[in-house]
Amino acid sequence: MTEKIIILDFGSQTTQLIGRRVRELNTYCEIVPYNKMPLDDPSVIGVILSGSPFSVYDEKAFKLNLDTIRGRYPILGICYGAQLIAYNNGGTVEPANSREYGRANLGFINHADPLFKDIESGAQVWMSHGDTITSIPANFHTIASTDKVPVAAYRADGEQLWGVQFHPEVFHSTCGMQLLQNFVVDICHSRQTWSAASFIETTVAALKEQLGSDKVVLGLSGGVDSSVAAVLLNKAIGKNLTCIFVDHGMLRKDEFKNVLRDYQCLGLNVIGVDASKKFFTELAGVTDPERKRKIIGKGFIDVFDEEAHKIKDVRWLAQGTIYPDCIESLSITGTTIKSHHNVGGLPEKMNLRLCEPLRLLFKDEVRAVGRELGMPDHLIKRHPFPGPGLAVRILGDITPEKVAVLQEADHIFIQGLRDWGLYDQVWQAGVILLPVQSVGVMGDERTYERAVALRAVTSTDAMTADWAHLPYDFLAKVSNDIINHVRGVNRVTYDISSKPPSTIEWE
Ligand code: XMP
Repeated sequence: MTEKIIILDFGSQTTQLIGRRVRELNTYCEIVPYNKMPLDDPSVIGVILSGSPFSVYDEKAFKLNLDTIRGRYPILGICYGAQLIAYNNGGTVEPANSREYGRANLGFINHADPLFKDIESGAQVWMSHGDTITSIPANFHTIASTDKVPVAAYRADGEQLWGVQFHPEVFHSTCGMQLLQNFVVDICHSRQTWSAASFIETTVAALKEQLGSDKVVLGLSGGVDSSVAAVLLNKAIGKNLTCIFVDHGMLRKDEFKNVLRDYQCLGLNVIGVDASKKFFTELAGVTDPERKRKIIGKGFIDVFDEEAHKIKDVRWLAQGTIYPDCIESLSITGTTIKSHHNVGGLPEKMNLRLCEPLRLLFKDEVRAVGRELGMPDHLIKRHPFPGPGLAVRILGDITPEKVAVLQEADHIFIQGLRDWGLYDQVWQAGVILLPVQSVGVMGDERTYERAVALRAVTSTDAMTADWAHLPYDFLAKVSNDIINHVRGVNRVTYDISSKPPSTIEWE
């Protein structure tokens, strides 16, 4: 049985980050809504309470009765989690005089407490809170303070119950990883056996058991997640897995051909379907971004369904869903900005059972599993690419001619990133074809042609992103190459917006 830490999610933006940090300690963990503690799961070795956008005294605040878990497992409350524990036990939580935001130093630390083992006085932590604990419950004691926050950390006397006002999970808390290690390893006694290799071993065995001799179909997109899912399933059930790779005509230059070849080299049983004509016909004249997405989503389902029905006795649909997709969909505060639906609706339509072997992994863990499975770097390190492809990077209506122009410009940009050793430094990159024409001059000729925008971002999970600070010399070279080689483009711009408030894709 895999021992696990449970993270109770009160809606903080950093809840996923807590999960990733615990996994970095080679310890399996699950994030569950704050009111869904799996009390009958014997493999739980400790519980972490996340932060929250609410104040404990808000009417809408997520409340939790700790009695069911207190004393059963070691507990660590972070930010709101710490405030909630203190408040529930008779402590006082009040709005801070000024919002505590940013770096702070733990001037006082009780070194006798196991949570602060090997953490020096003065250690840097990251604060982000509007409320503060002004008095702790009678049977609690303070174990760390900053000059502005007297109760930066506390412990309940004689109990395995701690609270920290700061965020140990964020990068700027330089002692954060040590603190989490102290909790997870020393206090909860994790044996730290969670790794890519152990995941593969247990998952392959579980898939063999679950699927037996059943037939499975899986939609490949060329992306990391579906590719790793396919290779993992192939290891478990071999030829009983059929992969379907649909070309909707909006893929990158030569992508269909190259990726199909890669998949065949990996020994996958893969069918490539060129359905571009269908998609171009259905998209003709459509300009609304959401309608484009819906048409592609539905078209994809139809093509996939038709292909899958050609295979006899299929019982399962496999998908490369990963953990952040699941957490987002059960998010307790989330709103939908864009519908990301490559295969949404497919399981219902096909009436198949769903198999999602990566649903508990974070992106970097999926890559580690792929590496462990012997997949080539260029597949594993591939940038994310949206399901609707270049369709959401052509603003306005879509024509084969526009796609061809964009494919050429995109190819120059992406190849340039590779040639300059910049590809792996950015999370994702691409070119956007703008519905704008502008005047230029080429030789003695006046031109009136299209403008494109280059987009490259850095990110860790695509939830937030910053524009990549690419070297000017590189941007100059790419701009020059695009204008000289791509017919119909006479102007190149660089998108310097971060997410939020912008998004990564333009549509
Ligand atoms: P946004 O534009 O919302 O994108 O900041 C966040 C990440 O999601 C990708 N993206 C998609 N991925 N199907 C996908 O599989 C989609 O419909 C879709 N739309 C956006 C985007 O490329 C970025 O990595």
